[in-house]
Parts: sequence; structure tokens; C-alpha cells
Amino acid sequence: MNIFRTKDINLLHREVENHSLKRALGATDIVMMGIGVIIGTGIFVLTGVAAANFAGPGIMLSFALSSIACIFICLAYSELASSIPAAGSAYTYTYVAGGELLAWLVGWNLILEYSVGASAVAGGWSAYFVGILKSAGVELPQAITAVPYDGGIVNLPAVLIVLFITFVLVRGVKESATVNRWLVGVKLAAIFLFLLLAGPKVDATNWTPFLPYGVAGISAGASIIFFAYLGIDSLATAAEETRNPQRDMPIGIIVSLLICTVLYIAVSCVLTGVVPYGELNTAEPVTFVLRKLGYNFGSALVGTGAIAGLTTVCLVMIYAQTRAFFAMSRDGLIPPALCKVHPKYGSPHIITLIVGLTVAGIAGFTPIGLVAEMCNIGTLFAFTVATGCVLVLRRTQPNLKRPFRCPAPKIVVPLAMLSSLYIMSGLPAATWVRFAVWSLIGLAIYAVYGARNSRVGQTKAEDKIAA
Ligand code: ALA
Repeated sequence: MNIFRTKDINLLHREVENHSLKRALGATDIVMMGIGVIIGTGIFVLTGVAAANFAGPGIMLSFALSSIACIFICLAYSELASSIPAAGSAYTYTYVAGGELLAWLVGWNLILEYSVGASAVAGGWSAYFVGILKSAGVELPQAITAVPYDGGIVNLPAVLIVLFITFVLVRGVKESATVNRWLVGVKLAAIFLFLLLAGPKVDATNWTPFLPYGVAGISAGASIIFFAYLGIDSLATAAEETRNPQRDMPIGIIVSLLICTVLYIAVSCVLTGVVPYGELNTAEPVTFVLRKLGYNFGSALVGTGAIAGLTTVCLVMIYAQTRAFFAMSRDGLIPPALCKVHPKYGSPHIITLIVGLTVAGIAGFTPIGLVAEMCNIGTLFAFTVATGCVLVLRRTQPNLKRPFRCPAPKIVVPLAMLSSLYIMSGLPAATWVRFAVWSLIGLAIYAVYGARNSRVGQTKAEDKIAA
């Protein structure tokens, strides 16, 4: 058994050519998609907890730090996505460049980004939903709105929204650019309304002390709010559908990153400027601050915008998970029967139901901070390995067609890897332990199933017998 066997890139290219997609997207579309998939729980939920417990007002610098790491990561992803535009993203890049075992580990950790990420987003959705009801004078009992860790029994709104999204996905919903644009509009309107209402109430004395947890608080905060940038890697997968990937991909990715960064810093600046950072330990800081300022109606409006935005992020993440599993099942690393397509709806209903029920279970019973940390560590691991593939492929596949080439790869790629590792290092030791346990479980599943059923492995064995 050769756990380092790689997927043949020519075969992959032939598969992709046979299913080539229409090149319909421009830089503006990429920017809109970026804002659509990026802005969500990170800013609407985690900013408060991260400012209160880790970075204080220095949370603004945490956002800046994460965004610098993201620029390097995005440049590397743009090259990979334009040269290997296939489903599975980081998992597929690693299969081609680094071999099967590493690819499985990356795919296994993408579960943390997509499934566990969707659970965190659902938790945030619930916090805003409960907050809006509160503004309207309806108070739901804690038993059905909080996870056991926070003194409740189950986070029912989080469970219900995930089940609803799962139902929609099983029915085969397709994301349209128009719907995305609408929801991006609603989300941006909510953010601008918040800045408009709360901005004038900023009291600069709240920014002192600026770094109550010291300089280390900046990177600890960055490790938590890195979640706000998750989803940016999914933009790179649109490379094959972009009219002029050399120009539009980097422009689209970097402009959306910059817009989100500016908005993130502006919101965290206002949040920490309006109330002392210690009071922000809530899962709905944006509406909490507006309520505190007496803007009950404004708080309800902003909360509604946040809910719309969080719904799409959650939907796209569950959808992305089913696509990643699809690529893995095509390669035989998970049972292909799980990814069967429904004859009427055209959706992979079995895997969608499994993913949906799992996400609902995590969202209903796990605290959001813990969930987001697990999600970040898994994603950062996938980023570290996938970006490293750029240098491996430059060496092993020098003639590969690269519509977009990462500039100065010998500097940018190591910086992407190092900054991912640096942000990972800011995560608590308990998260590292959980990550190690998670990876070991993944390795065990690979040994029991994937290694024996891998299509690449079987093809190579057949070739050997024929020779
Ligand atoms: N970046 C996305 C969010 O913050 C995952 O919700």
C-alpha cells in the first residue's frame, strides 16, 4: 500500500475539460461573491467575545493581522485554482502534489471548516434571532436557546435553521448571482446602519487600555476572529468560471478581502469605542450595543440584516461540505453510495442529510467559541498544506498551464504557510489537543476504509498486474 500515491494531473485535466464550465464571471462578481461568503459570524458574533476575552480594543489589529495572512494565502490559492480548477479545492490540490494520505488529512480537516463552521454560523444566527425577539418584547426561555455549557438544554433556533437549510439543499437549491447580490446588499446595509447609529456615540476613553491582554492578545484575538475570513478560499474555486482569471481572480479576491477588512476594522473600532470591551462578551454584540444605546428599532433592523447574511454563509458552507465529500467519494476514499444523487431533485440527498443532521447536532449542543476555534485550526492546517503545494507543483509540474501565477512564490508561499502556522499557534492548547484527536480519528478511518478502497490505489495495482 502506497500512502504517498498521487492523482495524475493529466487525467484530472481531462476530467475537467470534459465538464468545462462557462466563463461568465468578472472581477465585480468575484468581489460580490467574496463579500457574500466572507461576512458573517466573524464580525456579527465573534468580535464581541474576542474583544472581551482576548484582545480588548486591540481586536482591530487582530483583524489587520489576519487580513495580511489572507493576502498571501489568496495569492497561492489563485494559482492552484487556475491550474487545477477541480472540485474538492485544497483536498484535490494536495492529492495531486502531496499524495493520498496528506490529501485525506486535508479533506478530513475541511470538515472542520465547512461542517463545524456551519454549526458556528448557526449558533450566531440563533443569537441574533433571539436578540430580535427580545427587542420585540418576546423572551424565549434559556433552556431552548442555549447549549448545555451555557446553562441551557438545546439551542433550538440553531437546530431549526440548519434543518431548514438542509431541507432546501435536498430540494436542490441553486445559488444565483442575483440572490447573492440582494443578500450582500442587505448585509452591507445592516453594517452601514450600525456604523451610522453607533459611530457618533464613540467615546475614545473606552480604547484605553488599548491592549489590556498585552501584545500577545493581538495574535490570540486573530486566532479567534480568523473565522471572519473563512470562505475566502472558496472564491479560488471560481477560477474556471472567470473570464480573465489572470487579472480578475487576484483583483476580485484582494478587493473583496480589503473591503471586508475595512468594514471589520470599522465595526470593531465602533463596538469597542461605544462600550468598555469587557461588556462585549455576548454572541450578538452589534445589536446588543444598539439596544444599549436605546436604538431598539435600529437594533431589530441590523439584526434582520445579520440574520439574512448568516443564513447564506451557513447554506454555502453546508453545500461546500457536500461538494468536498463528493470529490472524496469519487476517489473512493469514502463510500460512493453516500453521495448518490436524488433522481428527482438532482441533489446528493443522503450526504446532505447526514451533513445537515450532524451540523444541527453540533450547533444545538456545543458552545460557539469552542466550535469556532476547532474550525479555525482545521482550516489553517488545510491552508498551510495547500499553499505549500504551489512550490511542490512548480518543481514537479513545471509545464502545467497556470492562467494565474502567484507573484514571487518563493517569498509569498512561505509567508502564507508561516502566517497560517503563526495564527494557529495563538489557539489554546486544548484546541490543539482536540485537533490532534480529530486527526487521529481521521487517520484511523483512512486506514480502515480509504486506503483499501482508493480508486487511484486500485488503478495503480491494476497497472502493475498488467505490466
Ligand atoms: N467568514 C464566515 C463568517 O464569518 C465564515 O461567518
